[in-house]
Amino acid sequence: MHFPSPVGLAAGFDKDAQVPDAMLSLGFGFVEVGTVTPRPQQGNPKPRLFRLTEDEAVINRMGFNNRGQANALARLQRRERRGPSTALRTGIVGVNIGANKDSADRVADYVAGVAAMTPVADYLTVNISSPNTPGLRNLQAGGELVELLGAIAEARTALGPPVFLKVAPDLEPGDHDRIVRAAIDGRIDALIVANTTVSRPPLKSRHAGEAGGLSGAPLKPLALEALRVFRSASGGSLPLIAAGGIASADDAWERIVAGASLVQLYSALVYHGPGLARCIAGGLAERLAERGMASIAEAVGSG
Ligand SMILES: Cc1cc2nc3c(=O)[nH]c(=O)nc-3n(C[C@H](O)[C@H](O)[C@H](O)COP(=O)(O)O)c2cc1C
Repeated sequence: MHFPSPVGLAAGFDKDAQVPDAMLSLGFGFVEVGTVTPRPQQGNPKPRLFRLTEDEAVINRMGFNNRGQANALARLQRRERRGPSTALRTGIVGVNIGANKDSADRVADYVAGVAAMTPVADYLTVNISSPNTPGLRNLQAGGELVELLGAIAEARTALGPPVFLKVAPDLEPGDHDRIVRAAIDGRIDALIVANTTVSRPPLKSRHAGEAGGLSGAPLKPLALEALRVFRSASGGSLPLIAAGGIASADDAWERIVAGASLVQLYSALVYHGPGLARCIAGGLAERLAERGMASIAEAVGSG
């Protein structure tokens, strides 16, 4: 795939595919909509989203609030019929899929997501790393992951979109090797490292004790370390997409030279505003020029 910029919008901002083109027009090279589940669901009771201003962080326990896959499908089909403007035509829209909280068969929910969203997705992301759907992260465990990825591989069509797997930053030693092996065997096209953390590094904000996933600046060291471990576990054989605490061109560059082909961000928009994607893309272009590199691909893993 050719991305007009390596800076993407992470999942969870545009859960129902309401504004992908608006976000592309802010300078994101790709936008990941969702997480969408087969059936609509309310998510957790409010309050469920907290701004940790002193920490440049966010805690959320949204719980996959979304209007369901049929709704997102219809919106993305209308968008395709309308035809994106020239400026946006090169932008990529991925669809992040998940399982309903009350699902009796979570593997079946992912298979349904692949089937439903394939016609409108430039890529699909299998999200098994949200901390806010009880038990969801268990799908990262050995046997369950192999079963899930096997079922997804079967559900994919020959001409269907690439499938990415989004993992948690909270993994035990040994998990990384196992996930990489399962991903390669299961024909996963890239790993997104990482989702929010359930850990709590030292925080200043009064909301530090809220339950949910932590994102933004305090996630940065954890997400960078997880990326490095996945890079060494995969030896460069599996493309990596970095997310977690990316707020500047320096942050993005650090992930790229550590092995990420692309980066995604969300929480930093809260603290740095809507111009951030364009600003980071410009900063990356400057770094390439300084080093005489022709494209981001040359910089990936060069650190
Ligand atoms: C409010 C909020 C909602 C999110 N919802 C989702 C989601 O639905 N699916 C998903 O895969 N990740 C979701 N995420 C995680 C982000 O996509 C991203 O992986 C994480 O926040 C780390 O990046 P950041 O530090 O730049 O925010 C959410 C994050 C936030 C802050």
